[in-house]
Amino acid sequence: MSNLIAPSILAADFANLQRDIEMVNNSEADWFHIDIMDGVFVPNISFGMPVLKAISKHAKKTIDVHLMIVNPDQYIQTFADLGANILTVHYEACPHLHRTIQAIKAAGMKAGVALNPHTPIAVLEDVIKDLDLVCIMSVNPGFGGQSFIENTYKKVSQLRHLIDFTESDCLIEIDGGVTGKNANALIEAGANVLVAGSYVFGAENPTETIEDLKNLIG
Ligand code: DX5
Ligand code: ZN
Repeated sequence: MSNLIAPSILAADFANLQRDIEMVNNSEADWFHIDIMDGVFVPNISFGMPVLKAISKHAKKTIDVHLMIVNPDQYIQTFADLGANILTVHYEACPHLHRTIQAIKAAGMKAGVALNPHTPIAVLEDVIKDLDLVCIMSVNPGFGGQSFIENTYKKVSQLRHLIDFTESDCLIEIDGGVTGKNANALIEAGANVLVAGSYVFGAENPTETIEDLKNLIG
């Protein structure tokens, strides 16, 4: 499978959301990455259900929802109904992670778990076979436009080993501070999906920037 680019809509122009969604539809991007923040799990509030509903209406690619919220369990069915294809919850927000993963799958979505920069890969050993995606946070969640944390490379290699050793078919996604400078090294370390927010939407030509990223990661 080729490596994937998931532009993060958090960095789009919300006053021109349909235009930016069409840009992603017509680009070489693979997924839409949608960041939902509750102001409790992370110190920021992004957007909620009505906005996701509007995005889903126009998005023609896989919708990858990244929940940065406490108690995600209570909204699993809601996100399925809103059109999420992949639902990623934070390890740090889920005391009964195994149950949460099963509930996401039972609602017909792919299940992902995100790890904060301080959370070691080893905490996923006993659920790795159940997961479709692990999102390694390469910044502290809550804001776009932060700088990439270099320790991420070590975590990507550790996760790649765990996935290969357990013969899991889970994808490794990297989220935060991804640019043309680190994209290739992340793929070399074992990543499959790169989320890019400000690097894409802050570019003079976002469509070309997506194309360049795709060419870089093959
Ligand atoms: C951060 C979000 C990211 C963010 C990435 O909490 O999870 O998806 O939009 O933005 P950039 O690519 O600008 O770091
Ligand atoms: Zn995200």
